[in-house]
This record gives sequence, C-alpha cells and structure tokens, in this order.
Amino acid sequence: MKQPLGVLEANFLKPVGLPGKVVGHLMSVQHRSLTGWALDTIGIPPAASVLDVGCGSGMALGMVSRRTSGRLMGVDYSDVMVAQTLRRNRAAVQATRLRAANGTADRLPCDDNSFDVALAIETVYFWPDLAAGLREVHRVLRPGGRIGVVVEMSKESMLSPTLVQRTVGRRFIERSEASGMTILSADALCGYLNDAGFDDSRWATRPERSLGWLCAWATKP
Ligand SMILES: C[S@@+](CC[C@H](N)C(=O)[O-])C[C@H]1O[C@@H](n2cnc3c(N)ncnc32)[C@H](O)[C@@H]1O
Repeated sequence: MKQPLGVLEANFLKPVGLPGKVVGHLMSVQHRSLTGWALDTIGIPPAASVLDVGCGSGMALGMVSRRTSGRLMGVDYSDVMVAQTLRRNRAAVQATRLRAANGTADRLPCDDNSFDVALAIETVYFWPDLAAGLREVHRVLRPGGRIGVVVEMSKESMLSPTLVQRTVGRRFIERSEASGMTILSADALCGYLNDAGFDDSRWATRPERSLGWLCAWATKP
C-alpha cells in the first residue's frame, strides 16, 4: 500500500478517484498566486481564445475567463480533473464559452491553428515527451499565437538558493528528477520552445518563491 506522500505525488501526476478530487482542490489553492503572476507576465489579450493543457481543476481557466471574452478550453488526461474544470467553471460552460476534454499533451483534441494563447501550468514536468507536447501545442496555436509554460519548481532556484531551497529543495528536486520528472532551467525551457518552432522566447523568474517560479513564453511565427 502507498504511503500518504506517495498517494499525494501520484495524484499530482494524474489525479484519480477520491484522492484525485482532493488533490485537485489542493492544487487550485497552491497554484493560485503562481498563476496570477504568470498571467500578468505572459499577458492575455482581451478577446484571446485560450487553451490550458494539463488544466487540473480549472482554476487557471477561471482566472483567465475574467481577462478575456474569448473561447476557453481545458485539456487534461485525468477524467477527474476534466469534471472538476467543468464544475468549477459552470457559468462559462453554460454560456458555451468553455469546454474541457480528456486528452494528452502530445495528442490534443483540437484543430490546427485554433487558439490565440496556450498555457501549460505546473504540468510539463510530467509530460513523457516534452518536445512532442510542445510541437503539438505549436500545431493548435494560430500564427502569432503565444505559448506560456509555467512551473514552480525549476533549476533557477539553485543559482542563489535560500536556506530552505539549499537544504530541503535541492533534495526534493533530485528526488523528482530520479522519479522521471523534468525539472528545467530557464535556458533549457526556452531551448525546448525554440526547437518546437516557436520564436522570440522570453522568460521571467521569481527564484526565491517555492522552488523557483519560472514562466517562459514564446510566439508561433
Ligand atoms: C500538478 S497538476 C497542475 C494542474 C493545473 N495546471 C494547476 O496549475 O493547478 C498537473 C496536471 O497535469 C495533468 N497532466 C500531466 N501530464 C499530462 C499529459 N501528458 N497530458 C495531459 N495532462 C497531463 C495532470 O492530470 C494534472 O491535472
């Protein structure tokens, strides 16, 4: 039987069943300030259509819905998260502004060239093939569309670590990498974005927050 920490970690990767529902709500609390910072940093144009890949509980889409009048879509490979996204955003769903569907990052249930902005918040660590996922996001963005990738755990935290980052944080990052998660530096993340066909990649960081908040964004030419 899994220990509580193991259950928690497994459900951050893919929320399932009752523990998944609880973790979905936890994530929406834990990631709210990170998401607000990232949306301010990336910039959401007022009528932009927005896709959120690995949308979790739909918290970010709720925040985005107050910044744009455009169409919104969440994709997640967890049915529990798709259901939470629909429930949390029921007014936008009823107004036919928001949809959510089951899908994986490397096979999005979306047409080519169909969104102005695509977000991937606290999810790319888990993608089995990050390069393929970013190429897929490139496919569904319109020319001129923007991708924003956001993480709260990055190698940026190790450049000038706080005491907690130097002690607990370093070990947590090593353990996460050993378990197969991808923990990126800003340069590595921008390298992935460039290789997927994006232009003009930029990044911002709050290295002292959590394990190194990092937001990178780029444009589809
Ligand atoms: C840590 S949660 C973050 C959720 C949400 N973006 C947030 O910030 O609260 C990671 C989410 O990504 C989803 N996910 C992970 N890998 C995925 C993949 N390859 N394709 C689709 N969804 C994925 C998980 O199901 C989970 O809901």
